[in-house]
Amino acid sequence: MIENKELILLRPSKDLENQLMEYRQEFMQYNEKIKKDKNNINGSCSLHRFDLFDEWLDRVNICATDESLSPYKTIASTFIAVRKSDNKIVGTIQLRHTLTKELRDDGGNIGYAVRPSERRKGYATQMLYLVLEFCKELGLDKVLLDCDETNIASEKTMIKCGGIFDRKQPIYHSNGEVEIVHQYWIYL
Ligand SMILES: CC(C)(COP(=O)(O)OP(=O)(O)OC[C@H]1O[C@@H](n2cnc3c(N)ncnc32)[C@H](O)[C@@H]1OP(=O)(O)O)[C@@H](O)C(=O)NCCC(=O)NCCS
Repeated sequence: MIENKELILLRPSKDLENQLMEYRQEFMQYNEKIKKDKNNINGSCSLHRFDLFDEWLDRVNICATDESLSPYKTIASTFIAVRKSDNKIVGTIQLRHTLTKELRDDGGNIGYAVRPSERRKGYATQMLYLVLEFCKELGLDKVLLDCDETNIASEKTMIKCGGIFDRKQPIYHSNGEVEIVHQYWIYL
């Protein structure tokens, strides 16, 4: 069990369907752009792209078990952060177990999001701490995280969890736009 006093991280399962689709809907309504991706739900294994829950769950399970079929080209473990006091889903967080060349340049080992209505309550920090414990159990000695240079909330979260600034990395998009991301290492 990956948990602390307030939160528990669960693997996605069918019994979370209604809650997760409601979580997804909140992001759709909020309509934010993260790293040039509209309505992106970070750390969710791209829940925003799936209207059908079962198709998304299949993808989550493939990513967690078969690196050759995973779009990340490594095993990716997705977790749902649930608040224990009322069983509400507050966030999603994903660990990509190996840092491939692609992830080294863009994405890193860990992505996360907190639903808009539950932000600024310390949940991202707690979720990241919990996943770092899982990383230690896996035997990882460091993980890379990145965020858009304008994403102060995410950058602060990384720093609070021990992030050490590594470098600024340009990301070239197909529409000609260039985005600068800040990369941080967390040593375990
Ligand atoms: C980034 C995100 C996960 C932070 O979640 P959160 O639960 O609000 O974060 P926390 O409450 O743990 O706050 C962490 C730190 O960031 C600060 N912070 C949070 N939101 C902030 C904001 N909008 N502006 C400035 N600082 C902010 C907090 O104050 C805290 O720092 P402090 O303790 O020094 O005050 C959330 O804003 C989010 O889901 N954003 C969209 C997805 C995303 O950007 N994911 C990361 C992609 S790289």
